[in-house]
Amino acid sequence: MAQEEGRLDYLEIEGGRPLSGQVCIQGSKNAALPILSAAILHGGRSVLHHCPRIRDVEEMVKILKELGCRTGWEGETLWVDASSLDSFVISKKHAEKMRCSITLLGSLLGRLGQACISYPGGCVIGERPIDLHLEGLRQLGVSFRSGEEQLEARCKKLIGTRVTLGFPSVGATENLILAAVLARGNTWILGAAQEPEILELCGFLTAMGAKISGAGSPTIRITGVEKLHDAEYTIASDRIVAGTYLMAAAACGGEAVLLKAPVKHIQGMFPVLRQMGVELFREPGVLVVRGPERCRSVPQIHTAPYPGFPTDMQSPLMAALCRAQGVSRLTETIFEARFKIVEELRAMGAQIQVEEHTAVITGTTELAGCCVKARELRGGAALCIAAASAQGVTRICGCEYIFRGYENIIRDLKKLGIVIKYHQPGIEGLGVPS
Ligand code: EPZ
Repeated sequence: MAQEEGRLDYLEIEGGRPLSGQVCIQGSKNAALPILSAAILHGGRSVLHHCPRIRDVEEMVKILKELGCRTGWEGETLWVDASSLDSFVISKKHAEKMRCSITLLGSLLGRLGQACISYPGGCVIGERPIDLHLEGLRQLGVSFRSGEEQLEARCKKLIGTRVTLGFPSVGATENLILAAVLARGNTWILGAAQEPEILELCGFLTAMGAKISGAGSPTIRITGVEKLHDAEYTIASDRIVAGTYLMAAAACGGEAVLLKAPVKHIQGMFPVLRQMGVELFREPGVLVVRGPERCRSVPQIHTAPYPGFPTDMQSPLMAALCRAQGVSRLTETIFEARFKIVEELRAMGAQIQVEEHTAVITGTTELAGCCVKARELRGGAALCIAAASAQGVTRICGCEYIFRGYENIIRDLKKLGIVIKYHQPGIEGLGVPS
């Protein structure tokens, strides 16, 4: 197989085997990132257990250090000492690498009353504007100056008020919470995101002494406090990583045991999985999943804000449906360009037609391994699922996208019985992403 020019490392998966094994689910990327932003709200120490050692967290750690914080790892525990924070500027090289840096706006404004941040990059899944963030922060008293490449924000004092979000944006909800916890008076966020990551962020902030109610509902109330204090928090398991492995069971069949699965946060996906013929059994701290030899199609499903079907699970579901019996219709309603893996799946023999924001997938058992390319995080993970369910060997380039959110997908898929190798130049065989 010709190797994509310029790409040196790749994953190699030999498909066609049912799952068999058990895996422990890592901490949640999308909880850890806003929590790390919250850690700078207090000039002291935060200790985060079950923190995923993924590239996006490493990127966030670099930003916190650039702001003057000190951090360190002890196994899966990450500590942050923000007492030495001495800057409010986030450089372009970091901000453009990771969107979640935008939530540092709220925490820098809360801590220092000012922030200077490069515009976070869009990415292949969509343009990803920040208008809801800015509009909400303006209502809390923030003024902005947009430079060529940087956004400057400042406020004399954040004043609590009622803010209504036109769309339940996860990031905008997080930014407003981060700005409101030290504001004067009460803030209500109406039309707030209800994702579990909002509950996680508010759980950590409450541990720091913040006064928040309604997290996980469309209306969140924050009563500003004078100061916060040191906190220790255990981050919930990653619902999208767990969901990815459930979709692998649907695609490949066999049985898998998920330890530390965040069942409360993923049970909304169970009806879809059961519709596909997947069986799920819960035991204390353990989720057992059994996939059929060939899963059934899902006639119609669309992504939606929580508690709807997560947009981050759309690509993994698509990969599983490629081999289903029957025709499925999968509509993406959150991001405008989240069908990037369709052409890669077609190269493997998948039969997918795209009509506007709906993918029509006609399942086939004729999926065959070939060389494919990941272009973003969840699409990359989905290609691993498709490769594991296809006949033959698949080579996946662009695997650095996958390492942004999966602590060690090679280790995890190997534990689930999938034949997978990570090839790095000069390190043949089962390399492990650094
Ligand atoms: C978070 O992104 C997650 N990222 C995403 O996960 C996830 O897909 C998304 O929420 C939706 O659940 C993190 O938590 C780090 P949004 P976020 O603001 O906050 C539009 C992954 O794979 N919008 O809820 O950026 C936006 O364009 C990543 O882990 C505006 O129009 O998502 C999009 O269409 C991918 N204006 C929709 O809202 C704004 O000001 C949802 O975006 C903000 C958002």
